[in-house]
Amino acid sequence: MIPRGYQGRMVGLLAMGGTQGLVGWWMVKSGLGDDRFDDSHEIRVRPIRLATHLTMAVVTYSALLWTGLDILGLPHQKTMAEEALKMFNKDALRKAIRIRSGAIGLTALTLTTIVSGALVAGNDAGRAYNTFPMMNDEWIPSEIADLTPWYRNLNENTATVQFNHRVLGVSTAVGALSLAGIGLLSPATKAKSAAALFTPQVRIGLYAVGTSALGQMLLGITTLLQYCPLPLAAAHQVGSIVVLTSGIYLTHSLRYARPALARLNRDAIVKTVSKKVLS
Ligand code: HEM
Repeated sequence: MIPRGYQGRMVGLLAMGGTQGLVGWWMVKSGLGDDRFDDSHEIRVRPIRLATHLTMAVVTYSALLWTGLDILGLPHQKTMAEEALKMFNKDALRKAIRIRSGAIGLTALTLTTIVSGALVAGNDAGRAYNTFPMMNDEWIPSEIADLTPWYRNLNENTATVQFNHRVLGVSTAVGALSLAGIGLLSPATKAKSAAALFTPQVRIGLYAVGTSALGQMLLGITTLLQYCPLPLAAAHQVGSIVVLTSGIYLTHSLRYARPALARLNRDAIVKTVSKKVLS
């Protein structure tokens, strides 16, 4: 049975799934008949349509995951959180708000990296510039702005799409490791009085974003250096969903840590956090 209050969201999710089918056909059509893209012997679709299809798929997946986490309700260590709330500390709340903002930013960056990755795969750009960190002998490839008008470079130029994906991929990993480091090592999150805010789910989320993004970056570099063998390329695609899932899980585990909360007095904060975290 659909839980109360979720009917509208379920209709939205169903519509997203249905639209995905239409976008899928629009993508496939660019590889067939008169619309056929590229004159090679294998069937190829337009990179921008492939990227649109993947983007819609991951957005639908994210919405499903968020809804699933909402409905499941994460198991909280109730007694520990109740005790911890009694000695609640505002520093920890500010830290939790900052980490939540970081998690939202990181999830958005991961999504952008995924879209840029689809453009790499769509242009077969992983079979050029198979060196790292430099692209052949250059830090920024000289072909980066070869196409006109300029915006065609963003989705059709092998050098540009690969350069963008490298920069975004490495930034995602550095961002995730920094967030995990700040979250797990800062005194405000380690304090006993922070236990109600930094639940086990938050800690798991922090470990997950750091390790998955680091692994994904190393896998991407290996895939590139090995000229994109199918098993590595497929593992790299699956890895992107693991990184995205970790970011969404971390954001969801801190969903109560909103900036508006910091403006309330202590009692109101404890009441709101108790309701959101312990219910
Ligand atoms: C957290 C960071 C990263 C994420 C989330 C990510 C995500 C993705 C995604 C979703 C694809 C498209 C897969 C497909 O549609 O088949 C892709 C492709 C690719 N990525 Fe990444 N990537 C990351 C980092 C990197 C890095 C650092 C490199 C190397 C410098 C890299 C190299 C590649 C290559 C070569 C491909 C093309 C594979 C193919 O042709 O199938 N990635 N990436």
